[in-house]
Amino acid sequence: MTSVTSIENLAQHASETVELAGWMHSKTGKGKLQFVHMRDGTGFVQCVVKRGAVPDELFDGLADAGQESSLRLIGEVRADPRAPGGFELVVSGGEMIQSAHDYPITPKEHGADFLLSRRHLWLRSKRQWAVMRVRDAVITSIRRFFDERGFACVDSPMFTPSACEGTSNLFELDYFEDQKAYLTQSGQLYAEASAMALGKIYCFGPTFRAEKSKTRRHLTEFWMLEPEMAFADLDDVCALAEDLICRIVKDVLERRQPELAVLERDLSKLECVEGKFPRITYEEASKILLEHPDSNFVAGEDFGAPDETILSERYNQPVMITRYPKAVKSFYMKEDPEDPTKVLCVDMIAPEGVGEIIGGSQREEDLGTLVAEIERHGLPQAEFEWYLDLRRYGSVPHGGFGLGLERTVGWICGLEHVREAAPFPRMMGRIRP
Ligand code: 4AD
Ligand code: MG
Repeated sequence: MTSVTSIENLAQHASETVELAGWMHSKTGKGKLQFVHMRDGTGFVQCVVKRGAVPDELFDGLADAGQESSLRLIGEVRADPRAPGGFELVVSGGEMIQSAHDYPITPKEHGADFLLSRRHLWLRSKRQWAVMRVRDAVITSIRRFFDERGFACVDSPMFTPSACEGTSNLFELDYFEDQKAYLTQSGQLYAEASAMALGKIYCFGPTFRAEKSKTRRHLTEFWMLEPEMAFADLDDVCALAEDLICRIVKDVLERRQPELAVLERDLSKLECVEGKFPRITYEEASKILLEHPDSNFVAGEDFGAPDETILSERYNQPVMITRYPKAVKSFYMKEDPEDPTKVLCVDMIAPEGVGEIIGGSQREEDLGTLVAEIERHGLPQAEFEWYLDLRRYGSVPHGGFGLGLERTVGWICGLEHVREAAPFPRMMGRIRP
């Protein structure tokens, strides 16, 4: 038997006979000719089946089979410029594996709730497949980028005894013998400890926020990439964030053209993401918003989603906003030596209304200042003693950021809602399937 070929590799097998294993995405034709649109997880290809050219049993099996039936097909790879992907399979044999009927997701329009409730099947549809393939390429790109730059991957725990990003959106759970634990909101504090041990590190894993907001940007479980560097300042953090985003976009453009085509993504919006990104301070951004007729921004407060959209619309690249007021940011951010009301932080806002994809900062390295901030934020100092040790023993300037994977994938794919960027999205009101 020929070894199974992937649809994405068909170009390497032009005019050869190959075997494909996959599912029947759709089917047209009647009488003596059937066109089976087959998918195998790596791509989609049209398979031409003619009565007489294949055993009758196979022809009849295909004629009876419904959408998502599983099958193997053997045939010759024929170049056809009209076919999506440039090739089709002229079938000479094969077998039905399971003949399926009444697949619930049909080519007609379904509502979001219907589809989300069938996410385990919806993932097979062409658009969702394309999004997951882009997500995969983004993850690979991230890991390659950091590996090439000498960052070690050191992961942070998911169970934590304290908050990192404020106490209002913590998931609390029972952790043996009357102890409370929380699902991590960010691996950062542990990433800082790892950076003091290994220099340049990143952690990459799931994070949790009990977000009571139903917006196009919020999940309750999402993946966060968090690099952390010893001996780094805010400029180093900004430069790393910029380089990373350029690399991710470049890699996706190189490796996922067919998927971006399925998503009908306007590539010109991605091709311009290179080089240096615009950088403005919070004060400069505030001025823009205060003068903008459509903004409800209040001076000194954090930017809301509509504010971020107004700001991002001014640029065709992601914009980096630095030095926010201390009052709206987390306890660990380093005070701006030029203005003690500000912190040395950066938010990267993606174009097209996606909002913040990266949040980061230089960290407070001074023990006394950090203790005061922990107290000012009403956090229990006892739980942070281990974290304070990082300032007691060989404290150095350091910094890093967190990149939201789903928001980044959502932006690159041009998705309306971040939920489609997660294989099994968790949101307020949805933990199934
Ligand atoms: O800005 P955030 O809250 O930063 C931190 O947690 C830092 N401790 C990271 C660090 O410096 N190591 O979150 C980082 C990113 C956001 O920019 C956003 O992309 C994403 O995580 N994010 C969410 N994505 C989906 N759903 C949510 N509810 C999110 N909250 C944050
Ligand atoms: Mg943030």
